[in-house]
Parts: sequence; structure tokens; C-alpha cells
Amino acid sequence: MAILVTGGAGYIGSHVCVSLLNAGFDVIIVDNFNNSYPEVLHRIENITGRTPINMPCDIRDRMMIEKILKNHGCTSVIHLAGLKAVAESAGCPLFYYDCNVVGTLILLQAMQSIRVKNLIFSSTAMVYGLPEYLPYDEKHPLVPENVYGRTKLIIEKMMADLYTADPEWSFTILRYFNPVGAHESGLIGEDPKGIPNNLMPIISQVASGRRKKLTIWGDNYKTKDGTGIRDYIHVVDLANGHIAALKMMEKPGVHLFNLGCGKGFSVLDVIGAFEHVSNRPVPYIIGPRRPGDIAEFFTNSEMARKELGWEAKRDLHQICADMWNFQVKNPQGYRQKES
Ligand code: UD1
Repeated sequence: MAILVTGGAGYIGSHVCVSLLNAGFDVIIVDNFNNSYPEVLHRIENITGRTPINMPCDIRDRMMIEKILKNHGCTSVIHLAGLKAVAESAGCPLFYYDCNVVGTLILLQAMQSIRVKNLIFSSTAMVYGLPEYLPYDEKHPLVPENVYGRTKLIIEKMMADLYTADPEWSFTILRYFNPVGAHESGLIGEDPKGIPNNLMPIISQVASGRRKKLTIWGDNYKTKDGTGIRDYIHVVDLANGHIAALKMMEKPGVHLFNLGCGKGFSVLDVIGAFEHVSNRPVPYIIGPRRPGDIAEFFTNSEMARKELGWEAKRDLHQICADMWNFQVKNPQGYRQKES
């Protein structure tokens, strides 16, 4: 079976491609390399001994997407391409609506015209907004707090409307919590372009000496130690969740799952675990709260366990160990191999 993976060269995408290739699927990657590196493709090949087909292209190029779907006999699409920085989304809303919402609209139009009607979509816990209760389950009200979250929710609704109009479609929407960690080989991991926004890549760069210190965004939340609490999920577990989700493709409908580990860790917990694993200090200062941040959230993983037979297996220690392994093997990220 050939699966088209949009954003397949990205952080999550590269791990999803490895899981797919290892499970015997053929993989066609569509990526515009906006936040990823072609070097990743060699690494995927190195890990799996198989070569994904690379189609450098933007999902908004409908003719090209139709051609790729047709020429490669794709049966399903895993749609991961998109922008994900909350602060940037507030400053450039039209850019976010264009890439995320218009991009998905065009992808769906292309799929519809070729009659490929199976799609797994990368959504986010950000669609829930401020927790009315915790852990979030899939029935929690949907009131996203920021532009990024709204683009993902609009896409989810677009998919539900399309299914209502044409019940042959099968959509599996995966709401990710905080993907972190790296492949155990140390060959692929997270290498954001520019200054990272997210906690784990910054910690890892500070521990390695590439950055001097971390700023903790607020230590006066109503949490056990005052710092923000998140549900960190190992990216390989997350990738395997997509393989589990492929089985839902047999059932038309709109299937919704939270993918997280079901436990919350504070910023200080994560720093402590990383220092322990790397045996390096992670100097930090306390800064103000980051606008739009939520004090605490984590998932109820019951639905994914029951319906997909999936659960996260790797703990925080493993997450930090794999992240550190990637950092040590790639001190400057993927760039060193490209120059
Ligand atoms: C962030 C995004 C979210 C996106 C996800 C992708 C925001 C507000 N949210 O989620 O939309 O889907 O990344 O992985 O940008 N922290 C620090 N110092 C830092 C960075 C983070 O203290 O330099 C803290 C944050 O305040 C938070 C925790 O670490 O409590 C996790 O932050 P982060 O890794 O950015 O993830 P989210 O904010 O949950």
C-alpha cells in the first residue's frame, strides 16, 4: 500500500515515515522544506534500508498533488504539513490560514478528484483551549485560545462536513499533546530552523552548550512547583499511533483520538530528568509568563487504548536519553551534513 505523507521530512513526519516503512508500507513524501531538511531523507533510508519517494512540492499545488496521488497509486494520505508556532500565528494570521486551512482545502480537493478518501490528520490539543476539566478527553469543549489552534479546529470541522456530504470518506483526527524525543538511532530528531520555541529542543541545546540558558516562562502557576505542566509524548510512540490509526481507514467516518501519555510533567521535572540523563547542567532563569500559555494540561488516553489498541510506552527518562543522543550526534542539527 502506498501512503502519501505531507510534511514527511519534518520532525514528526520523518518518524512517521520510518514507522510506515518498517511496517511495510510504501511512502511518498510531499514536503516544501519550509521547516525541514532534505538530509532527513538519507537518514530515513539509513534507518529503514528503504527509500521513500521524495516529491518536493507544496500542498497548495493541486495539479501536482493530483498527479502524485495518481502516479503512485496512493490509497491514503497522512497529512502533517502545517505551521505550528502559536506566537507567530498571532502575528501572521493570514499566513496560518493560508498554509493550514487553504492548504488542507486544496489537498482535500485533489484527493476528492482522484477518489482517494482516506486521511489521517495531525491536529493538536490546542483545539480544546482552557481546560474545563482535566484530563482532557475527546468530548471536552473546543474553544481554542489562539489562531494556530483555530486553524486546526476549522480543518477538523471541514473534514466533518465533507464526511456528512459524502459518507465514503474516512477521517482519523489525531490530537497531539507535546511530541518530544528522537529516534533511538540518533539519526533523526527535532531540529527547528531559527531559535526553538518549544521547551525540549531548548533544554537540549542548553545542556550541549549551544545556548547559554533557558528562560522558564513563569513559576507562579497553580501547579505543584509553579511551572507549566504538559503531557510529553515520545515522537516514536506518536509515530506508531499513526500506524495504529491506519486500521480505522477500513471504517468510513470521522474518528477522533487524543495522543499523549496521560501524565503531566512540569518544566522543572523535565529539566531535572534531562540533567540526570545528560549529566550536564541546564542553567535557567525565571521570566514572565508567555502570553497564551495554559498552566496545565494532559490527556485521558482511554479512547486510543480501547479503539486503536495503542498507548505510549516510552517514559520521560527515555525521551531525554533519545533527545540527548540526537543532540550529541548532531551538535548543529542536520546542517553539518548539508554544507
Ligand atoms: C507549544 C505550542 C503548541 C504546539 C506545540 C508543538 C505555544 C503556546 N504552544 O505547546 O501550539 O502545538 O508547542 O510542540 O507555543 N517553556 C519554558 N521556556 C521555554 C519554552 C517553554 O518555560 O523557553 C514552558 C512553557 O511555558 C510550557 C512548557 O514549557 O509550560 C512547554 O512549552 P512548549 O514546549 O512550548 O509546548 P506548549 O506550549 O505546550
